[in-house]
Amino acid sequence: MLIIEPIAALRQTVREWRSKGLSVAFVPTMGNLHAGHLHLVHEAKQLADRVVVSVFVNPAQFSPGEDFDAYPRTPDEDAEKLSGIGTDLLFTPSVAELYPAGSRAATFVEVPDVSDALCGRFRPGHFRGVSTIVCKLFNLVQPDVALFGEKDYQQLMVIRRMVADLDFPVRVHSVATVREPSGLAMSSRNAYLTTEQKEQAATLYRCLCRAAEAICHGEKDFQRIERQQIETLQAAGFRPDYFSVRRQSDLAAAGQTDSHLVVLAAAWLGKARLIDNVQLTLPLSRVSKTETR
Ligand code: PAF
Repeated sequence: MLIIEPIAALRQTVREWRSKGLSVAFVPTMGNLHAGHLHLVHEAKQLADRVVVSVFVNPAQFSPGEDFDAYPRTPDEDAEKLSGIGTDLLFTPSVAELYPAGSRAATFVEVPDVSDALCGRFRPGHFRGVSTIVCKLFNLVQPDVALFGEKDYQQLMVIRRMVADLDFPVRVHSVATVREPSGLAMSSRNAYLTTEQKEQAATLYRCLCRAAEAICHGEKDFQRIERQQIETLQAAGFRPDYFSVRRQSDLAAAGQTDSHLVVLAAAWLGKARLIDNVQLTLPLSRVSKTETR
């Protein structure tokens, strides 16, 4: 596996691959890799001739006071895991080269609407930082296909929208969330949880599943479901930011005429802010023809 930090060397390698007619799959990450990331790489290998993984903790997507400094960084372990599963190139750019004028004085890419609600409400500027770095990385790596986990459902929507609006010649391929046996979605931020909190944390996924089940069984009052699950999370020691039933396509609040839904939640447990979601599709016979939410 090649490990490359300078942008010029990355460009040169990708150019050589392209001149031989090879296709490129790309998995952007912030490192501290877990089974969820490795699953993305396995999938990437099925989709292209060469796989590039980036590890870059992007300062532009952290607000002041968030966990940028504390974010777990494990470069040696990451490189070992990636080379063990046949990654072709690990790209580890520096902050200085990616943001020569500083990460707050850069040109930004903004994806309106889909960035604003849910996590966007609680982490102002977060998705602007994500869309900007993904845009920059796409320009550098020039992949045919890029892979993203469905755990960050809103991030996936923001990137799909950016790719469509800005005509990137990149196919966005999403991959289902990888979970612990308890149901807890794998995340680098799970490292902030104590052993006891890690067991407790699976409650978030259980609440999402319970909400999805209630909807599948005919519950039509989505706001009641959201309130009930927020209360359940609070009783279990979480501090929920939101629990919300949305349309899969654009994350607008779901109504009775929508059949493709996603239930999303973000909640703090101790020092960790956990996010997760469950997607569901209602049979057409269950969807009202008129809006009653
Ligand atoms: O999901 C992540 O790890 C990050 O948000 C991403 C897509 C690598 C951009 O920094």
